[in-house]
Amino acid sequence: MHEFYGRKQPRNFCGKKKVDLFFNQNFFTEFIANKRIELFSSLYKTLSLEIGIGTGENIIDLSLRNPNKGFIGCDPFLKGHHNIFKELTLKKKKNLIHTNLTFNRLYGFLKKIRFQTIYLLFPDPWKKKKHKKRRLVNLKFVDQIYNILEENGQVIVATDCNEYFDLIKTNFLNKKLFRENFINSNSNNNIFPELAETKYFLRAIKAGKKTNFSRFQKKIHK
Ligand SMILES: C[S@@+](CC[C@H](N)C(=O)[O-])C[C@H]1O[C@@H](n2cnc3c(N)ncnc32)[C@H](O)[C@@H]1O
Repeated sequence: MHEFYGRKQPRNFCGKKKVDLFFNQNFFTEFIANKRIELFSSLYKTLSLEIGIGTGENIIDLSLRNPNKGFIGCDPFLKGHHNIFKELTLKKKKNLIHTNLTFNRLYGFLKKIRFQTIYLLFPDPWKKKKHKKRRLVNLKFVDQIYNILEENGQVIVATDCNEYFDLIKTNFLNKKLFRENFINSNSNNNIFPELAETKYFLRAIKAGKKTNFSRFQKKIHK
């Protein structure tokens, strides 16, 4: 099965943009992933991960507002990575590294890393019946997330697809590895003040759709 369905680069993604991005210190591909992650994680006591950064609004905002924390972002789609490159270069920030690896590929490099928070905002809902198996969140994904979270670490999820939201919840609560300690279904507002208004959040508002937000906390097993 494929790991990613969709476009990997925007239509106007010209040579210079690629060169700028791929030669930038904050960006990494699988060839340098081990080294880059090892070095970066040794610099920060608290790390967060965003899966599916899209055009980058949330992870850029988080990294600018929390200069003492380290952030890692992944998304195979290159547009957000270029936005991050521009922002970080402009503001000379170093507390964010990002990769075009899918989460599954990145996971292979994260075995020794523990995150305080993992953000999953508006994962592709793949609504058609024949496409549902493409969805990112399943039981394997939940196990992977569990393995890379700190004790008491949390996952913050947002989606405007009610049916996917129910499935995400079922998967996270399935093995009693997580407890849901916050839920707000069908909200017009961003009820996590720490979240930026991402492209897909704004798109949901514009379309008159309400968003479901949830926070799953890793249980401590003694
Ligand atoms: C609907 S968009 C949401 C983007 C952003 N989080 C937002 O709220 O605007 C979903 C994003 O997830 C990314 N994505 C899809 N499969 C992925 C995977 N396996 N690993 C990481 N990102 C993935 C897509 O490229 C896309 O940018």
